Amino acid sequence: MKKQITENWWNDFFAEFRPFFAHKSPKETNSEVKFYLKKLNLKKGKLFLDCPVGIGRIALPLAKKGIKITGIDIMPSYLGELSEKASKAKLSIKLFHQDMRKIDFENQFDAVGNLWTSFGYFEKDSDNMLVLKKLYKALKPGGKFVIQVINRDWIMKNFLSNNWDEVAGVKILEKREFFYDTSSCITEYLFIKDGVEKSLTSYIRMYSFHELKSMLEKVGFKNVVGYSSVKEEPISRDSREMFIFAVK
Ligand SMILES: C[S@@+](CC[C@H](N)C(=O)[O-])C[C@H]1O[C@@H](n2cnc3c(N)ncnc32)[C@H](O)[C@@H]1O
Repeated sequence: MKKQITENWWNDFFAEFRPFFAHKSPKETNSEVKFYLKKLNLKKGKLFLDCPVGIGRIALPLAKKGIKITGIDIMPSYLGELSEKASKAKLSIKLFHQDMRKIDFENQFDAVGNLWTSFGYFEKDSDNMLVLKKLYKALKPGGKFVIQVINRDWIMKNFLSNNWDEVAGVKILEKREFFYDTSSCITEYLFIKDGVEKSLTSYIRMYSFHELKSMLEKVGFKNVVGYSSVKEEPISRDSREMFIFAVK
């Protein structure tokens, strides 16, 4: 039977997703942070909007560099965890519990980021476009934008219908179905922890570089450039990641 997605799937899914953050090693995160500092021209006192911010994987190290962070997320538990870590480190981070489609900032930030495949969560293409419009609006004129997502062209070459994963003591079975009519992937996850099973579903609209570039330009962004790594290698069907930068 064709897989179906539940409405607002992210609420249940991200409640169980917390162990997945362990997939990003401190080394990988550090090199990403350095890359964003350089490419977004982030210096002490600059204003950065991290949407969605998660548990502050990127936001916390940036705040430690003196960047003024505003973070948005739909998961109250992630925001709670981040707020606790920030206050322990005596860092001031502004956090908002909000759906990324509903943010309402205008000409406020020097840079804006949507990081680690946090885009394409909505079944309606117009909703995904709305996120880009809101992020664009939040930037000051001349402000810099980065979006980091999985490359659809890589997915097409390496698509796996099923695989097992294990992270932080949780065994995870992932069963995927790709829909060519909408370029979307619905994944059913079976999380098994201490013998207890929980099943969840995610939806991601997948984008190739050229499609995201054209969407960003439609929204008004200029100078759109994409890399497959923090070493600024070009995007190809062999690159899993895309780091796309643009300017308002
Ligand atoms: C893969 S995590 C990435 C988090 C962070 N950007 C990072 O790099 O670590 C995706 C995040 O999107 C958040 N999220 C999911 N749906 C959302 C929505 N509709 N509005 C705002 N945030 C959402 C999740 O709670 C989660 O923190």
